[in-house]
Amino acid sequence: MPSSDSSAPFPGEFDFVVVSNRLPVDRITDDDGNPSFRTSPGGLVTALEPVMREADGAWIGWTGSADDHTEPFEHDGVHLIPVHLTADEVEKYYEGFSNDTLWPLYHDVIAPPAYHREWWESYVVVNQRFADRAAELASEGATVWVQDYQLQLVPKMLRELRPDLTIGFFNHIPFPAYGIYSQLPWRTQIIEGLLGADVIGFQRTADAGNFSRAVRRLLGYQTKGTVIDVPIEDEAEVSGSSRRITTGRDGRPMRAVVARSFPISIDAASYEQLARRPDIQARAREIREGLGNPKVVMLGVDRLDYTKGIGHRLKAFGELLADGTVDVEDVTLVQVASPSRERVTAYQQLRDEIELTVGRINGDYGTISHTAISYLHHGYPREEMVALYLAADVMLVTALRDGMNLVAKEYVASRFDNGGVLVLSEFAGASDELRTALRVNPHDIEGLKEAVLQAIDMPASERARRMRAMRKRVQEYDVARWSSSFLSALTSSSDDLALPKSTVRTPTRSEARAEERAVEEAR
Ligand code: G6P
Repeated sequence: MPSSDSSAPFPGEFDFVVVSNRLPVDRITDDDGNPSFRTSPGGLVTALEPVMREADGAWIGWTGSADDHTEPFEHDGVHLIPVHLTADEVEKYYEGFSNDTLWPLYHDVIAPPAYHREWWESYVVVNQRFADRAAELASEGATVWVQDYQLQLVPKMLRELRPDLTIGFFNHIPFPAYGIYSQLPWRTQIIEGLLGADVIGFQRTADAGNFSRAVRRLLGYQTKGTVIDVPIEDEAEVSGSSRRITTGRDGRPMRAVVARSFPISIDAASYEQLARRPDIQARAREIREGLGNPKVVMLGVDRLDYTKGIGHRLKAFGELLADGTVDVEDVTLVQVASPSRERVTAYQQLRDEIELTVGRINGDYGTISHTAISYLHHGYPREEMVALYLAADVMLVTALRDGMNLVAKEYVASRFDNGGVLVLSEFAGASDELRTALRVNPHDIEGLKEAVLQAIDMPASERARRMRAMRKRVQEYDVARWSSSFLSALTSSSDDLALPKSTVRTPTRSEARAEERAVEEAR
C-alpha cells in the first residue's frame, strides 16, 4: 500500500533510532512468488539488535529498490521504517554522488571521482528526507545514530530540527587526507553536516586525524585531542540542548564534538560456532575435493569493487604461475567476487578487466584436471563462506584502500583450529589490529609474490602463533564491544540520555588517553 514519507506512523515514539542508507534486511521471494524480508548478513544488525530491543528502537533506511513504497514493518523485534527513493534519486544520490563521487574520493581517488551539481542536489534532498523521518520518529531527548558516507548531511539537518536529540555518526569507509578531500566542491557543507553530531566515529585514528585537519583548514575551529569546539549560532540550540555547552574564548557558546576512531568488528562467536559445526567442516572438505585436492587452496572474498585490489592479487598469482614458482597442480586460487553497484560504469569496467584476466590466466596455465582460478561472481550465505574459510590455507586481502575489511576478521574468527595464513594489505583498517598477519603493500607486486610464497611455505607452528594472536584480538573486540564503546562515548557527551546504560561500557581513562595520543601522532 503506497504511503507518503511524511505521514509516518509512530511519531515521537522511539528512544533509539538508527539511520542508514540501506535497511538491515534483504527482500526475498519464496517459491510461490510471495515477497518477504530476511536479515542481511552484515554484523551491524547483530550488534544493535539488543540495544534496539532494550531501548525501543527503530531503524530508518532504503529497501534497495527504486519507487518502493513498503510500509513500516517489524522484523525480528525491530521496527523498520523504509525511506522511499525515486528511480532518479537512485541514479543521482545513490549511484551518482554516493558511489561515483564520495566512494572513489574517500578511497584515495583509486578511480576518478565525478563531480556533478545535479547529483549533489539530489544528495541534499535525500539526506533531508532521512533527517525529516528521524526527526519525526525520535522521542524527546532520544539518541539517533547515523551510519556512513551516504548520509553525511543528516546530523546537521537533524540538529536543526531537533536540538534535544543526542546524535552520533559513524563513517564506515576511510576519510581521506586533506589534499584529496579538498577536491570536493561541497567540502565545507559536508564537514558542517557531520559536525551536527555529538560524536563522529571513524575506523582508524588516521581517518579521525584527517577529519580534524579538514575542520581546522576549512572552518578554523579549535581541536584538542579528539575534541572539536564548534561554535553554536542558533539560540534555540542552546536552550533546547541536553548537551554540555561551554563558552569559547570570544564569549560565544560552544558545543564539544568528539571525533575519534572506533574500529568496527564482527560477531566473532557466531563465526566460530558455524566453523565448529560438523556439516560445515564436511562442506569444507567437499570444497577441497571439488578443486581436485590441491596442496594449497588460496582464497579471496570481496565485493567486486576497484578498492579491493583483486587485479593486483591476480597479477601476483599469474606471475608466480608464469615463472614456475608455483604449479597449478599444487595451488588453486578461489576468488569470490560478489556483484555490486552494477549500474555504475567504473564497476562494469572493473568486471570486464577482472574476468578478462581470470580467463587469460586459466587459459594459459590451467590443465584438464586443475584450474588456476576458480572465479565465482555470486554472493553466498554465511554457512558457505565459513566452509570456504575453513577450506582455505591462505586468505588474500589485498585492498588498495579499505575502511576496515571485515572478511579478514571473519577468516580469523572462523579458524578455531589456529590454521590458515592471512595475507593482509596495510591499507585496510584491519591491519591496525591484526598485527601478526603477513602485511603487504599490494602495489608492490614483488613483495606480494614473496608474501604469498611465505604463506604457502609457513610452518604450522608459526601459522598457529600468528593466528592465535589475531583470534584473541577479534574475540575481545567484537561488534558488540564496538557498538557499546561508541554508544558509551555518545552517552557521556550528553547530560540527559534515553539510552539504557546497561548496554554500554565506558572506555577506561588510559584507553581514552591512548586514543588521544594516537590522534595527536596521526596529525
Ligand atoms: C560498504 C559501505 C556500506 C554499503 C556496502 C555495500 O561496506 O560502507 O555503506 O552498504 O558497502 O554497498 P551498497 O552500495 O550495496 O549498499
